[in-house]
Amino acid sequence: MTVRLGVLGARRGLSFAHSAKEGKSADLTLVSICDFSGKKLDAAAKNYNVKFHSDFKEMLASDIDAVVLANYFHEHAPYAIQAMEAGKHVLSETIPAGTMAEAVMLCEAVEKTGMTYMFAENYPFTKIGLAMRNEYKKDKIGKVIYAEGEYIHPIEATMLNTLSPGINHWRNWMPSTYYCTHALAPLMFITDCKPVRVNALSIANDNVAKGTTRRSDPMAVMLVTMNDGSVFRITGWVTAGGHGSRFRIIGEYGTLESPMPHEGGFFGNGRLTISQNELRKRELDTYSFSYSPEWPEDAKDAEKSGHGGGDYFMTKLFVEAINSQKAPAYFDVYDGAAMSAVAILGWRSALEKGKPYDIPDFRDENARNAYRNDFATPFRGTHNHPLLQPSVNGERVPSEEDIKVSEKIWSEL
Ligand SMILES: NC(=O)c1ccc[n+]([C@@H]2O[C@H](COP(=O)([O-])OP(=O)(O)OC[C@H]3O[C@@H](n4cnc5c(N)ncnc54)[C@H](O)[C@@H]3O)[C@@H](O)[C@H]2O)c1
Repeated sequence: MTVRLGVLGARRGLSFAHSAKEGKSADLTLVSICDFSGKKLDAAAKNYNVKFHSDFKEMLASDIDAVVLANYFHEHAPYAIQAMEAGKHVLSETIPAGTMAEAVMLCEAVEKTGMTYMFAENYPFTKIGLAMRNEYKKDKIGKVIYAEGEYIHPIEATMLNTLSPGINHWRNWMPSTYYCTHALAPLMFITDCKPVRVNALSIANDNVAKGTTRRSDPMAVMLVTMNDGSVFRITGWVTAGGHGSRFRIIGEYGTLESPMPHEGGFFGNGRLTISQNELRKRELDTYSFSYSPEWPEDAKDAEKSGHGGGDYFMTKLFVEAINSQKAPAYFDVYDGAAMSAVAILGWRSALEKGKPYDIPDFRDENARNAYRNDFATPFRGTHNHPLLQPSVNGERVPSEEDIKVSEKIWSEL
């Protein structure tokens, strides 16, 4: 069946719209785009001959089968729930739930409505991510003991202000642990491990956010214990240092490593390195070996889609999940809720100097009950939820100059 798609949010959402329009996303037809910004809709109308809506409810009432949620980072769960209750399947951008209570509500809405829900994490589905999983599944390094995932994406002040229009825009308040899925999801995809505990530390630095109104820290280090006892060290969105993503899996008798980012573009020089030790008979001629993986045969169009091909696989898996009426393996609502909990409870851990927090099992009623009324959030705006501080130092206070520069950029958007 061809899935008729509506997209909420006309910025990141337009990459999905583009893929669907170009026919690059298997069996997806773009039907409508929704954004409450008239300017964004006018700009989108120059490239897309589809229906435009300023109201999400209006789009839900139209002739679509599924929605992509690319609205504000912390507001996906309420829209996902509304969409599923209206009989639409949901592909939700990160982060699936902005509060612990919403993570519980999201799981319950999927169970109640029976609609397909998929958490749209694209970083696992790069050439390197797919190859690392393939080698891991071939038992090249044994069982994972430890892994590292880094998402380092500094953004220059003018661009950051453009991407974060307004004092209360989510990017200006997001604590350093919250955008952790680009680092964690690839490791979960490669190893099939699930998070059960998090300890985190956040590092404050006022300098890095100069020229912006960001209140939060540039970096967090999070230790995530997984359900097989392995420990993953991940970052959130890091806004300091040199640009790049990197993944490393240390197994019982070997290591899989993605390239160092400085050896090429964002994903490095594209070469995957496998090393093996003497704990078992080595299969490799040398201790370590690198090669440039190719796309799998069925992924000819992946290269053309966004984020190193990741967007292609994600939409393909979504359509397959809808057509098979089975929950997507990467990633279903329970994985999405667990990753949200790593972000949210990771932040509480950082505020308490690294205290461990257990990630609840979202399939378990008692575990859900513990968080059913927990709406605490660091994000500012129109809600009445209890507020968390956005930095380990309380809050970075933008200077008068930071505010002046930022407001000037916002007024020109
Ligand atoms: N996976 C990736 O590689 C990737 C890349 C960029 C962004 N993202 C994610 O995509 C989401 C969107 O990111 P962005 O950079 O486009 O954010 P953004 O804040 O720039 O844009 C969100 C858009 O949604 C619209 N919007 C918000 N709430 C709405 C509502 N209720 N009704 C109608 N329109 C509404 C806003 O007007 C805005 O145009 C975020 O969750 C972000 O984390 C993911």
